[in-house]
Amino acid sequence: MNAGKGKPVLLSGIQPTGRLTIANYIGALKQWKALQATHDCFFVLVDFHALTVPQDRAEFQRRCLEFAALYTACGLDPEKHTVFIQSHVPQHAQLLWILNCMTHMGELFRMTQYKEKAGRSAAPVNVGLFDYPVLMAADILLYGTDLVPVGDDQKQHLEFTREIARRFNHRYGEIFTIPQPYMPDMGARIMGLQDPSGKMSKTDENQKNYIALLDAPDIVRDKIKQAVTDPGKTIRYDPAKPGISNLMTIHAALTDLSIESIQADYSGKGYAAFKKDLAEAVIEFLAPIQKRYRAAYSDRDALMSRLKAGALKARKRSSIVLDKVYDALGLVPGGPVSKTRRERMDG
Ligand code: AMP
Ligand code: TRP
Repeated sequence: MNAGKGKPVLLSGIQPTGRLTIANYIGALKQWKALQATHDCFFVLVDFHALTVPQDRAEFQRRCLEFAALYTACGLDPEKHTVFIQSHVPQHAQLLWILNCMTHMGELFRMTQYKEKAGRSAAPVNVGLFDYPVLMAADILLYGTDLVPVGDDQKQHLEFTREIARRFNHRYGEIFTIPQPYMPDMGARIMGLQDPSGKMSKTDENQKNYIALLDAPDIVRDKIKQAVTDPGKTIRYDPAKPGISNLMTIHAALTDLSIESIQADYSGKGYAAFKKDLAEAVIEFLAPIQKRYRAAYSDRDALMSRLKAGALKARKRSSIVLDKVYDALGLVPGGPVSKTRRERMDG
């Protein structure tokens, strides 16, 4: 499947909205860091996906740069990965249309995330929200992606991607690589601090429900102190005690200690002592990230040129697959794909 491609390809995307949280680090960035040595990594700032809800213009632009700087600050090596902004690579929207024409309405109506978002919305639901998984499939399939690290909320979208790739290949020949999901063993789902029955989300209106990677130490202390815990006072990992179990998972993921050793360390101690130590551990974890972030974000030229180089590489790479798709479908060559073909030859 991967013949002649070198390292297996890994691709993941994050919407440049809200504030990157420790859950994004644990569920996504930490995994990416570990995989960059063995994989050819593409990290996409999926701004087209973010347009499914209206964005504030200035804020939206700033977020893309902030997130790219945070990737470096979190230890992703710029030499070992390609980061780019989705809207800089027109191939994504081009393949989206083609895949749309092979997708059944019913498949998209069944998507849990769509049902939840559409159900919650008082405003009319836009077509982009409905079509969101098809754009995600295009993101993945354009790069011959082997592995897609995702949290469990995205599993259904990845299953759809695999299905649409198989359907296309069945009709037109083996063009798409069938991607595999990659799920971390622990921390695939970090829960909210105020509501541990729901996942920690970077766009939560209640800021106390998450810890942002750029939260100041006092804010971190406050948020952890106020985190909801369960009745009782023993520090024990137990699905029936989602509040404390979630805090233990965060502690373990950020310090690389095991749940067992945390449990042993806190036997006989109460929630307050655990929370105090957890807050300090989180602050210690965040300090070097925040320092590196400030340096990376303020070097605007370096940041922009990295995103530009990333987009150029992504255009070249994705046009290889898109050329094959156009050809298989019988689309007449000579349009924008040919331009990227030329770019490929130049580079
Ligand atoms: P999102 O913040 O929903 O745009 O997701 C960006 C990435 O972070 C995806 O790979 C998600 O699966 C991951 N992620 C988001 N929220 C969580 C969470 N609460 N726990 C673990 N991973 C998460
Ligand atoms: N839908 C993903 C999320 O909300 C973001 C995403 C878009 C993505 N395209 C992707 C993730 C491609 C992995 C691969 O988290």
